[in-house]
Amino acid sequence: MSGSQSRTPLVDAWERARARELRPMQIPGHKYRYRRDGQRLDGQRLDGEGSIPGFALLAQLIGDDIALQGGMDDNALSGGFLPVAEQLWAAAVGATHARFLVGGSSQGNLGMVPAVVADGQRIAIDRSSHRSVLGGLVIAGAQPVWVQPTIHPEFGIPLGVDVSALSALDDLRGLLVTTPSYVGTLANTAALAHACHSRGLPLLVDQAWGAHLGFRPGAGAIGQGADVSVTSVHKTLMGYSQTAVVTMHSDLIDLAALDRCLDLVATTSPSGTLLASIDATRAVLVEAGSTLWERVFSLADQMRAALRQEPGVVVLDEQELGQPCDPLKVTVWLPRTGAFGPAVAELLRAAGIGLEAADTDTLVLTISPADSADDVQAATSAVRAAIDANRATPRPPVPTEVWQVVPEVALTPRSAFMAPRRRLRLVDAVGEVSAEQFCPYPPGVPLLAPGERVTQEIVEAIASASRVGRVAYCSDPTTQTIEVVAS
Ligand SMILES: Cc1ncc(COP(=O)(O)O)c(C=O)c1O
Repeated sequence: MSGSQSRTPLVDAWERARARELRPMQIPGHKYRYRRDGQRLDGQRLDGEGSIPGFALLAQLIGDDIALQGGMDDNALSGGFLPVAEQLWAAAVGATHARFLVGGSSQGNLGMVPAVVADGQRIAIDRSSHRSVLGGLVIAGAQPVWVQPTIHPEFGIPLGVDVSALSALDDLRGLLVTTPSYVGTLANTAALAHACHSRGLPLLVDQAWGAHLGFRPGAGAIGQGADVSVTSVHKTLMGYSQTAVVTMHSDLIDLAALDRCLDLVATTSPSGTLLASIDATRAVLVEAGSTLWERVFSLADQMRAALRQEPGVVVLDEQELGQPCDPLKVTVWLPRTGAFGPAVAELLRAAGIGLEAADTDTLVLTISPADSADDVQAATSAVRAAIDANRATPRPPVPTEVWQVVPEVALTPRSAFMAPRRRLRLVDAVGEVSAEQFCPYPPGVPLLAPGERVTQEIVEAIASASRVGRVAYCSDPTTQTIEVVAS
């Protein structure tokens, strides 16, 4: 590992704090008095004076939690561990600036959008984007110009936004794309960055699913020329849940604006433990280098090859699609097996094998460096068995609606979100403007967003998505009613 990359300022601060007997008269309210093993740090009995009955249960959960402020560092953050750790991450992925987040890539998207686009201005956005991008639009008050990703004609999955989509658009403040997509397909980020830069526009990339790509030379969004990128450290890497990083390498985006907007949507009391897990992840990955990736990519390749042997199974990867795909995603297409994704996923979940996503036609599995050969082999056998148990007559594909929707924008997301609302039966709302989101989850991509006109096609798509899985972030979880903008 190169000299400076072996440093782990946040991990060191966490270890130092943990080694001390902290007795704070400030937050966090658990006061670090309990270890994960349920013992009080000062050795007193759990049921002794000052103990809370049943605290041993809670201790297992909070035993590793150390706040950044007033725990790992002082209240003024005078140790400065966080910016040093962020700079180390930036250097590791070829960026000039990085910000660690404990609100997931959702927080990154909420901050990234208003950093480049303001009230009434236009930004082109890939329609396969996550719901949090819409949150960013609500904060910014901006006008989305939705760009449809290319959809595979047979498999019905998004293949990424094509560079030609930009040429018809004008008066933009930037382009935001999501790559890898939920199903693992990769857009041509280098070509998109080139097209954006030749028009003086920044390229924003939601790379929530591709944090690992930044650790491969030239593979991450920043390495391919994007101006700013959001990555989840908890998705394909080993950070605590909720951890994410925004990285930037740009002379088109104002760094102060990015910082300001990320601060706007950040907690003032981040868990130092979560932040230290980002620091540790970077150090581990840099130290392990390419050997680690060769091992993990080879495990994913083995899984794809084994699943391809299953009669009727199509593995949607580079070989099948003829375009770059995320090496850590295994996406399986089922119609020719006759099996239905949710039924296969249910069997696997009962066996303790959760899938990233399962819609009618596809199963999506995520591999990470934490997987061993045994883990991957066991999951592969279980997936094969679950498909076999659900085999039926091959059936026509039922592509997921979220990838097909072409929205009709009537108002900006913010105008609709803030407007007075009224509730209607969804079936009676055709022609109205939605005040809310309907997101099948996963993938968390909206079928309908605030400011978009409700059409018959959308009503049917929502009904069909709610038969297969959860439609989230709408005010009526049964999806029978909708809040529309009161006229
Ligand atoms: C493309 C994309 N972006 C952003 C997010 C939000 O990520 P997080 O859960 O880290 O907030 C998700 C979540 O699944 C996602 O799929």
